[in-house]
Amino acid sequence: MNQASALMNTITTPNEYKQAYQQSVEDPEKFWAGVASDFLWRKNWDQVLQWDFAKPEVKWFDGAKLNITENCLDRHLLERGDQTAIIWEPNDPQEDHITITYNELHQRVCQFSNALKDMGVVKGDRICIYMPMIPELAVAVLACARVGAIHSVVFAGFSSSSLADRINDASCKMVITADGSYRGEKIVELKKITDDALQSCASIEKVIVVKRTGKEVNMQENRDVWWHDAIDDMADTCEPEVMDAEDMLFILYTSGSTGKPKGMVHSSAGYMVYTNYTFRNAFQYQDGEVYWCTADVGWITGHSYILYGPLSAGAVTVMFEGVPSYPDMGRFWQVVEKHKVNIFYTAPTAIRALEKADLSFVEKYDLSSLRVLGTVGEPINEEAWHWYDKNIGKGGCPIVDTYWQTETGGFMISPIAGITETKPAFATLPMPGVQPALMDKDGNEIGGNAVEGRLTIKFPWPSMARTIYGDHERFKQTYFSAFEGKYFTGDGAKRDEDGYYRITGRVDDVIIVSGHNLGTAEIESAIDEHDKVCETAVVGFPHDVKGNAVYAFVICYQAPSDEDTLRKEILETVSDIIGPIAKPDKIQFVGGLPKTRSGKIMRRILRKIASSDTSNLGDTSTLLDPSVVDEIMAGAIN
Ligand code: WT7
Repeated sequence: MNQASALMNTITTPNEYKQAYQQSVEDPEKFWAGVASDFLWRKNWDQVLQWDFAKPEVKWFDGAKLNITENCLDRHLLERGDQTAIIWEPNDPQEDHITITYNELHQRVCQFSNALKDMGVVKGDRICIYMPMIPELAVAVLACARVGAIHSVVFAGFSSSSLADRINDASCKMVITADGSYRGEKIVELKKITDDALQSCASIEKVIVVKRTGKEVNMQENRDVWWHDAIDDMADTCEPEVMDAEDMLFILYTSGSTGKPKGMVHSSAGYMVYTNYTFRNAFQYQDGEVYWCTADVGWITGHSYILYGPLSAGAVTVMFEGVPSYPDMGRFWQVVEKHKVNIFYTAPTAIRALEKADLSFVEKYDLSSLRVLGTVGEPINEEAWHWYDKNIGKGGCPIVDTYWQTETGGFMISPIAGITETKPAFATLPMPGVQPALMDKDGNEIGGNAVEGRLTIKFPWPSMARTIYGDHERFKQTYFSAFEGKYFTGDGAKRDEDGYYRITGRVDDVIIVSGHNLGTAEIESAIDEHDKVCETAVVGFPHDVKGNAVYAFVICYQAPSDEDTLRKEILETVSDIIGPIAKPDKIQFVGGLPKTRSGKIMRRILRKIASSDTSNLGDTSTLLDPSVVDEIMAGAIN
C-alpha cells in the first residue's frame, strides 16, 4: 500500500476527514479504488462503478474476483494467525468464555465449508441460518460465503411461521440451526421451531443441528444431521470459491411499513470494502483493541459490525450469547470489565433500560478500558445520550451515533470517533462516499443549513442493497420512486447550522398538528427530559380542529403518585423545549411499550389505540411481549 492510499484509507484528523470526503464526492471512483487497493483480489476490477438509479442498477468493482472470507481470514494468518479473532461470552456467566484465534477460525470455517460441500451445497444455493449467538453461527455464516452459498440469517427470536416465510421466499435448500438457545433464564427450542416451520417448506433438503443445550430433540432420518457429525473427518483447509464482485453474498429480511418482509440482497465486493472502511474509521479501531457490538448476528448490525467489518479488519470481536438483564442489569458492564472492552456498541433501547436500573450496577465494575462508545438503531434521545456519556464513558469516550439501515449495509451518517465533534442526539456528518440530500414534499432538494426534510442519498455507495430478492420492482418502488434519481431512506432529518444531521425518525411517524410538522422522536426526547420519565412513545391521532393531535405513552421510573401533577409538569417541559404546539393532548402512563424483538416501538399499534380504533390491531406476533398491548388498551384515554 503506498502512502497516498494509506492516507485515503484511514482518517486520523478532522482535516483528513474533510479531504477524504471531498475526494469521495469529486472523484468517487478514484477514492473507492484507493480504499479497495487494500484487499486481496483474485482479479482486479474492470470498472469501479456503473450505476443507474432509474432501473435501479448499481455495480461496484465489476469484473473483479474475490472471496470475502479470504479477506476476513486467510490474509490475516501470516501476520496475526495467533491473535484472537472472536471472544465468545456465554449467556451464563458461570460458563467459560471461549477465545478463537484467526488460525482456529480459519480452520473451523474450512472444515465446515467442506462439510457443506460434502452435503451437496454449491455456489448460489440459499442457506437459512437460524441459530443462537454461539461461535458456530459465525462459522456457518463464513463457511457459506467461502463456498459461494448465499446465507439468509433469520434472527433466532422469530416464530416458526416467520422462519417458514423466509425459507420459502428464497427457496433455501438447507437450514443450519441448534437444538436450542439460552436467553437469560429461558431456553428457546430452536430445533422444534424449525421442525414446525419445515412442515411448510418443500425446498429444504438438509438440516444441520448444533448441540448447544443438550436437550433431546427430534432428528429426522435422511434430513437432519448433527453439526459434530457433519464436520467429523473433514479437512481443515478449503479453497474458497472465486466469486464475482457482484455475486450475491447474502439475503437479510427487514420489515416494511406494508406487506411481507423484504429480502434485502447484498453483494460481495462493495459490501466488503465499505463495511471494512466504515468499521475502521468510525470507531477508529486500533490494532489489538477489543471491540464489542451487543447486537445479534440475526440483524444487519451483526452481519456488518460483528462479523464482516471487524474480521476483515483483523479485529478482536466479542460475540455475546446473553441479554443485558441476566443475571442482573450489570451484565454488560461485567463483560466490559472481564474482557477489557475498548469499543462498546449498543442500541438506545438497551441504554434506556440500563439507565432505568440502579447506578450501582454500573459502579460495581471497572469500565476504564472503554475508549469509544457507539449507538445504533433509532434516534437516541438527549437524556440517554448524556447518561451514556456520563456514566459509561465517564465523560471521556466519544459517542459514535451511527445512522444506517439494513438496506445501506454500512454506516451512512456517523461521527468519526474522537475526530468529529459530537452533539447529543446528532448522527453528525456523512461518511466519505455518502451524499445526503434533504427533500421537501414536492420533491425539491432543500439546500443550505438549518433546514429539515426527507432524507435521501443521491449517489451510490459500495454497500447499498442491490435488490429485494425475487422482487426488483418492489425494490424500485420502495426506494427509488419517491424522489426521482435518489435513494429514499424513509427517514426525516434536520441539517443544523453546522451542516450536522439529526435523524428525526421515520417520516411516516411525522405528526402534522395545526399545520406544523412535529417529529415523534423530537417530542419523545423532550418528554424524556423530565427527570421522572424513563421512556416515551408519541403518536398522532385525528383531531377535529388541529387535524392531528399528540398522544404520549410514558414510562416512568416509578409509577407516579399524582398523575395530574406529573402531566402538568411534562406539558411544561415540552413547552419549554419545543414550544406549546408540541404539547401532547393526552398523556397515558404505562408500564411498557409494544416493541419488536429488535427494540423498535410498533407505533402502528399505538396509533390505533390512540385513535380508539382497536377492533383490528393487525399482526402482533413479532412483539417481544404482546401482553403490554392489553395493559395499554385498558388504560387508554378516550
Ligand atoms: C432504521 C433502519 C442499522 C442497523 C440497525 C437498524 C433507524 C438506525 C439510527 C440512528 C436514528 C436510526 C432509522 C433507519 N436508525 N440507526 N443512529 N439514529 N435512527 O436497522 O432495522 O434496517 O432500521 O433505523 O429509522 O431507517 P434497520
